[in-house]
Amino acid sequence: MQQNSCSIKGIIKELLQHKKTLILGNIIALLSTLLIVMIPLFIPILVDELLLNKPHGYITWIEVNLWQSDIKGYVFATLIVILLLRLFSVLLGIWQAKIFVTISKEMTYKMRQALLRHLRHVSLKEYEMMRVGAVTSKLVTDVETIDGFISTTISKLIIASFTLIFSAVVLLWIHWQLALFILITNPLVVFFTAKLSRNIGKLKKEENRAVGVFQDALTETLELFHQIRAANKEAYFFKKSEMKAKELKEHATAYGYRSDAAIKFSYLVFLGGYEIFRAVSILAVAYSDLSVGLMLAIFSYLWVMVAPTQDIINFQYVLATANAACERINSLFSLGQERVIEEKANPFEGCKTLGIEVRNLSFSYQKEKPVLKNINMQIPAGSKVALVGASGSGKTTLANILVGFYPFEEGEIIYGDIPHTGLKLSTIRENIHLILQHPKLFNDTMRFNLTLGKSYSDEEIKKALHIAQLDTVLAGLENGLETLVGKDGIKLSGGQRQRVAIARMILSDPRVVIFDESTSALDVHTEERLFSALHEFLREKTVITIAHRLSTIKSAGYIYVLEDGSVVDSGTPKELLAKDESYFSSMI
Ligand SMILES: Nc1ncnc2c1ncn2[C@@H]1O[C@H](COP(=O)(O)OP(=O)(O)OP(=O)(O)O)[C@@H](O)[C@H]1O
Ligand SMILES: [Mg+2]
Repeated sequence: MQQNSCSIKGIIKELLQHKKTLILGNIIALLSTLLIVMIPLFIPILVDELLLNKPHGYITWIEVNLWQSDIKGYVFATLIVILLLRLFSVLLGIWQAKIFVTISKEMTYKMRQALLRHLRHVSLKEYEMMRVGAVTSKLVTDVETIDGFISTTISKLIIASFTLIFSAVVLLWIHWQLALFILITNPLVVFFTAKLSRNIGKLKKEENRAVGVFQDALTETLELFHQIRAANKEAYFFKKSEMKAKELKEHATAYGYRSDAAIKFSYLVFLGGYEIFRAVSILAVAYSDLSVGLMLAIFSYLWVMVAPTQDIINFQYVLATANAACERINSLFSLGQERVIEEKANPFEGCKTLGIEVRNLSFSYQKEKPVLKNINMQIPAGSKVALVGASGSGKTTLANILVGFYPFEEGEIIYGDIPHTGLKLSTIRENIHLILQHPKLFNDTMRFNLTLGKSYSDEEIKKALHIAQLDTVLAGLENGLETLVGKDGIKLSGGQRQRVAIARMILSDPRVVIFDESTSALDVHTEERLFSALHEFLREKTVITIAHRLSTIKSAGYIYVLEDGSVVDSGTPKELLAKDESYFSSMI
């Protein structure tokens, strides 16, 4: 698979990379079909030579060169040979399937790996628009479809082609006129049935889209179940999912019965053709030198050709399905990624903390709707700065931009002395820790939620928990650090979850900390204890605190006031109060 796209052409190209294995697989397929195609050739020996006494010379040859026997002996020997041919053909078939399955699993693994690597770097803006259910269904179901296409369809197609070619050769050898008749009419039958399948791909697409929509509705309902129950809206949301299930039923029914009808009808056409062949063959026996045994052999070949012809007919359906799966996979590959920045120098290296300067920064999520307008801020190294403003004024947006979550076109941010255009996003996030407004916890242990997989000693973890005022919480957990916190940390209170996020920050020991209302769920006393415990830890770090509560920011050295995306005021708390005594009156 090409690294960043899926196409049938790409799949074939990638398959060809496994040339050696593929050649072996094809040789095995060739042998397996040769064995099967030989079987009908025994019919003329049995029927013409043994039953009808019409010699082809084979029995005479056996009597002279191998061994002499009566009818019973020859029938029994033929039976054994045919059974052995079938057995070996099946064994070779299994070997060939194993080869293709191994290649297909390797290819689909690579495809999932490429998709995951793409998603890892997907930009936050794209992520916010993504429907999780649709993404997972692409990674699971659609990749599975491609897997089936490679492992089953392609190997079947190879066997089918070999079988048809061998059968054609033998048929031509037996009776070329009849063979030509069969070989010309057979493709016509295939062509006719192909026409029937045109619309099936489209219907399948509709069905898959309906599956995605249903999955999304259900995922959202289940993920927000708590919220939905609190709002007493179960009926509305489940009804919505039910409606999507109904739409899915309609699309699935349309696809299900029409594709079934198309397959059945094409089979009918094929069987009709078979009846005509039979009539023509009997005429050939009556009016040419074709023996009854050879006629029966031709009938057998017709049957040998049924499955391969069906496989070739079905190939178009499967191809349409694989193409549709590829298209959906490509929609994931086309999700925009974060910028890759070449790092000139790392300003965080070798220093305890860093100052940040924001120059003329403007930003909008959607065009023409500016959220931040011409922001200028000076945040010296080691300073404690607060950002206040009404809800929706752009505080969280600014915090997110400071850690490089959203790219912006206007203005610049200078970290130490390096502008944002010269710093890797991973370097910024490694050193600036943003504690989110609504921290999310993993459905894992308390330890994992604190360390996120990095190894820390129990001492370090306990110290962080102590600073974050979580001692008593930890003591209350039945398995201590190994206690599972439940989905999204449901076993913990809102304030406890916020403190877990703070303890996580303490452990990662960043150089700059941004608190985005990270203590909003704490009571004033716990918050005060927390900040006084944090005081020493934060002493040398640059700290930006976003808050609505006066108590949270009262120790700030400098305050920026944001209103409707612009900095409308700034100064020390004293200066702001001096301007207007009721400055913080709206804050508690
Ligand atoms: N991901 C997003 N996509 C589009 N618009 C957004 C997004 N996030 C926020 N906004 C919009 O940007 C504006 C600023 O939102 P932001 O979250 O930065 O405000 P805030 O000052 O943090 O508010 P609060 O105090 O309520 O947390 C709001 O009008 C909001 O609707
Ligand atoms: Mg906010």
